[in-house]
Amino acid sequence: MSFNNLALKISRNLPPELSNKFSLKSLKLIYKLNLLKVLFSSIEAKTSSINLLGLDFPNKIGVAGGLDKNAEYFHVLGNLGFGFVEVGTITMKPQQGNPKPRIHRFNNEETIINSLGFNNIGAVKALKNIEKNKPSFEGVLGVSIGKGKEIKNERAHEDYLHLIDYFKDVADYFAVNISSPNTKGLRNLSKDDYFNKLTDEIMNKREQISKGFSIYKPIVIKISPDESFFDLEKIVSLSIEKNVDGFILTNTSLNHNYNLPGGISGKALKQKSEESLKFVRSIIGDKAVIISSGGLMTKEDVITRISMKADLIQLYSGFVFHGNKLLQDALEISST
Ligand SMILES: Cc1cc2nc3c(=O)[nH]c(=O)nc-3n(C[C@H](O)[C@H](O)[C@H](O)COP(=O)(O)O)c2cc1C
Repeated sequence: MSFNNLALKISRNLPPELSNKFSLKSLKLIYKLNLLKVLFSSIEAKTSSINLLGLDFPNKIGVAGGLDKNAEYFHVLGNLGFGFVEVGTITMKPQQGNPKPRIHRFNNEETIINSLGFNNIGAVKALKNIEKNKPSFEGVLGVSIGKGKEIKNERAHEDYLHLIDYFKDVADYFAVNISSPNTKGLRNLSKDDYFNKLTDEIMNKREQISKGFSIYKPIVIKISPDESFFDLEKIVSLSIEKNVDGFILTNTSLNHNYNLPGGISGKALKQKSEESLKFVRSIIGDKAVIISSGGLMTKEDVITRISMKADLIQLYSGFVFHGNKLLQDALEISST
């Protein structure tokens, strides 16, 4: 049995939230012992780099938001071969998140339902972690930002602006999360007036930073798979008008039949995520970058997304179920 399979077998037998923590902590220990490349096979040398968003990505395969919520593991994941990691979602203040159990994993269906609710250590501690770990990381670092649970939507933009200011020196790009289903009201930020105000303010901030500090921080917006095509077109067109740099398609979906709170990810999300990618690409052409996320479980899924003109790929559930095998397959595909 390969080490990857052994690790997956152990983690499958633990409760999901503990399993995630255990797997990442074990990976970090193996990294510290300098055994990552010995125990996990890697094709890193063959991958080809790509310039997008004004950044050099070592390859197209990244880690989606939420796996490394507190910026403790991104350097380890980079060492395994990921070309970029999106840490967070980080909120200004620390948050406990929703009551446990809040991650449910269905192994046969290769599906996860989570209702975490932005549990994270908050901006101050997360920044310290980034500063500590970034020198050991060669990839691109995305910082996913979200509004605090207690912040009303009318003032949400202030929270996002604070976060951008706070992380501007360490983030390579910002992912604006307005699509988690687990913070009450958050998804309303994609609606008309809120969205208009939020994107205006964020774009102004991007320009202000660019002029004041001569650093350009690309902004990508993470979108829900539950938007209707009508709303999706509105969101995307308005964003393009305002020169948003890119989109992440998609976050988790509330459209499922499990009698559980939270959003679904994994295999069950694949079709919806592909439809969103196809639709948005048909609207925007090559005017902005698309990062595809959702239901990427196999080598074939990666081939499909690239053929559908995703610029970059993010893994989450697929990595939970298949580990390094999927990552190495994806790297192989994306380098051809
Ligand atoms: C346990 C869990 C926690 C997540 N936390 C976040 C998060 O904090 N921020 C975010 O933008 N997305 C979060 N996501 C969504 C993922 O980034 C990803 O977009 C989604 O799971 C779809 O991809 P997948 O089908 O490959 O898992 C989370 C997903 C899971 C399963």
